[in-house]
Amino acid sequence: MSDRPSIVLGVAGGIAAYKAVELLRRLSESGHDVTVVPTGAALRFVGAATWAALSGRPVADDLWAQVHEVPHVRLGQSADLVVVAPATADLMARAAAGLADDLLTAVLLTARCPVVFAPAMHTEMWEHPATRANVALLRERGVLVVEPAEGRLTGADSGQGRLPEPSELAELCRGLLAGTAPDLAGRRVVVSAGGTREHFDPVRFLGNRSSGKQGYALARAAAARGAEVVLVSSAALADPAGVRVVRVTSALELRDAVLAAAQGADAVVMAAAVADHRPVERFVTKRKKGARLTVELVQNPDVLSELVAARTSGQVLVGFAAETGDADGDVLTHARAKLTTKGCDLLVVNEVGEAGHPTGFEGDRNAATVLSSDGASYDIPLGSKDVLAHRVWDLVAQHWTGRVAATS
Ligand code: CTP
Repeated sequence: MSDRPSIVLGVAGGIAAYKAVELLRRLSESGHDVTVVPTGAALRFVGAATWAALSGRPVADDLWAQVHEVPHVRLGQSADLVVVAPATADLMARAAAGLADDLLTAVLLTARCPVVFAPAMHTEMWEHPATRANVALLRERGVLVVEPAEGRLTGADSGQGRLPEPSELAELCRGLLAGTAPDLAGRRVVVSAGGTREHFDPVRFLGNRSSGKQGYALARAAAARGAEVVLVSSAALADPAGVRVVRVTSALELRDAVLAAAQGADAVVMAAAVADHRPVERFVTKRKKGARLTVELVQNPDVLSELVAARTSGQVLVGFAAETGDADGDVLTHARAKLTTKGCDLLVVNEVGEAGHPTGFEGDRNAATVLSSDGASYDIPLGSKDVLAHRVWDLVAQHWTGRVAATS
């Protein structure tokens, strides 16, 4: 690979082509050589001038232009990564059939580098058996077809079919170019993220400081390493590319979603800050101001303990613990006791800091000690939440293979 990795950005003819402009900008600005290969239909949505100006390169859109340079072979062979965003149902059907009736499909046949498709279409088209079969075939051949995000589609309807956020796609491309090994391929994992909200009226809730960033980093890292990922989230963050996101609000909703997704999963990582209590009563109308307001709380089920009770053989369960030391013991003493009580395989322990403290909650960095059920412990020094996420998956993978190393 040259100093500047070379990316072919294929753009198919869907309205989400306008979002590929942002993806192009992000990839170019982070030092990649990007050649845009739009289909004829894509050019009806976004013109060649936009692609050329932002990539700083001529737009390659015609199989019959500069034939003496054999562009479809040159582009495919020299690319370090091909990413097609948006990938329409039509484009995927043509790629699955091995057609080469325009420059983009011809490039796809000559590319020997990792290929990513980011589909975007209406839910009905995504769910159609023809599209499902094409996606399955492409995945079988090694193409990384990311799951479309859920949300508002073109027009009034909403559902699964949105192009993931360009920032998330750019992150995925960077991970692939960095050569992240697909060592979690074939694994199905569940991650929970965010702080739950326990409403006592339509406006107000009891919540906590968890941002969900560590859980999202875990989901992103697992997807980059080839796992099939379900993220059960109560956080207000953009869906990571290639991850199925189930949105929840309360602890009870999170419990139902996690327990359902955990069936048959190889690992469940409970990074969510699940509220221990919820209001006994949820009022239908907004509570009026008064000198005092009493909200009675009742305990929520412990999701991690339920997962442990229902655990199937080979499933690895990971808990998180935000702890503070006190008169009864230091952070690690409390954490060891929690690992035993919960019965999980790994417990990622953070010392809780105040707002502005470098670790935990709102920040982008974290440090932790991971306690293993076999007595080992692993220190993960202060670094990005992404680095911590990868380290956690390394330890999960060690549990799968039964190679838990001695205390580091
Ligand atoms: N957890 C859970 N269900 C709950 C509460 C917590 O599954 N109702 C999970 C969290 O996702 C986390 C782990 O349990 O992975 C530890 O959470 P924590 O709040 O530290 O522990 P608690 O069991 O709530 O104990 P305490 O608050 O008393 O320290």
